[in-house]
Amino acid sequence: MLVLGIESTCDETAAAVVKEGKEILSNVISSQIDLQKEFGGVVPELASRRHIEVIIPVIQQALHEAGIALRDLDLIAAAYGPGLIGALLVGLNAAKTLALSLEKPFIGINHIEAHLYAALMSHPRCPLFPALGAVLSGGHTSLVRINAIGDYTLISETIDDAIGEAFDKVAKMLNLPYPGGPEIEKLARLGDLSRYPLKAGQVKGRPHHFSFSGLKTAVLYTIQKQGSALDHPSLAASFQHAAFSDVVKKTIAAAREHECRTLIFGGGVTNNLYLRALFQKEAPGYELLFPAGPLTLDNGAMIAGLGYHRFLAKGGDSLNLEAAPKIIGFPY
Ligand code: KG4
Ligand code: ZN
Repeated sequence: MLVLGIESTCDETAAAVVKEGKEILSNVISSQIDLQKEFGGVVPELASRRHIEVIIPVIQQALHEAGIALRDLDLIAAAYGPGLIGALLVGLNAAKTLALSLEKPFIGINHIEAHLYAALMSHPRCPLFPALGAVLSGGHTSLVRINAIGDYTLISETIDDAIGEAFDKVAKMLNLPYPGGPEIEKLARLGDLSRYPLKAGQVKGRPHHFSFSGLKTAVLYTIQKQGSALDHPSLAASFQHAAFSDVVKKTIAAAREHECRTLIFGGGVTNNLYLRALFQKEAPGYELLFPAGPLTLDNGAMIAGLGYHRFLAKGGDSLNLEAAPKIIGFPY
């Protein structure tokens, strides 16, 4: 079964062709970083316009690289949310139009669920469920118990900023370019992580929930207090360590409580090598599944791959499926 996966939730326009849910025949990603860098973040209207310009060439390129024609496709999958409404509409409508004109089935995919599936695509065998899923991206921070593909129990979320958002905002305070996550990681390598005492927030009565806005404010106060004496690399290292040691501690505690021996990671922040090393050090005895490099950031392959499984489980969706900027909860 050949599935075309289309992704346009934020600032990447992506399309991929995936065979039987796992074999990636092409994975084309057109990033808008050049455009959004100028504004220090994603401007939704600009994102939508760029998606419109590149969506057809990106799909054509994905088909070309896979060596197939449109008629060879068996299913068209697209992320229907969560994300920026104008951006979502472009990919979703492209997918619906293709499905309608080719008389092929269509399926809408949850972007966050797809981030977790990306890690499964990167590994030769499927792990034993239940597994603990950690979504660490620019828009989301959540822990879920994965009972099976398509069956989840939400354990915890952030009550304020997503972790990637906190990285992007701290990077901005340090005058680093957008997106800030990779810049903080680079700068932190030169710093001393114990130089500034920082801690992520704890949520009263909800031990697995996250809170990063206090940590972000503490970084701002440190910058103001230190003035010209500020050691930039050490602040980056101290912030990164504070954020990640909190994630590691809460993820392991949730895995223990929910009897999961495998940890599955998804989202752009899981690109961070310090995060991966920290888990390797602090979570011995757990199987750690990280997505392979090109599947970490937003991409079409994870949409196509999950589309295959969801289609087999529940069939296609109606073309009336609407774009959903917010999707509440994790089970669908
Ligand atoms: O998953 P993603 O591509 O988009 C969303 O669905 O949100 O994640 C983007 C986020 C951005 O906030 C970016 O700064 C962060 O992932 N990110 C990183 C790293 N690479 C990307 N954060 C920390 N370290 C990195 N190496
Ligand atoms: Zn994403």
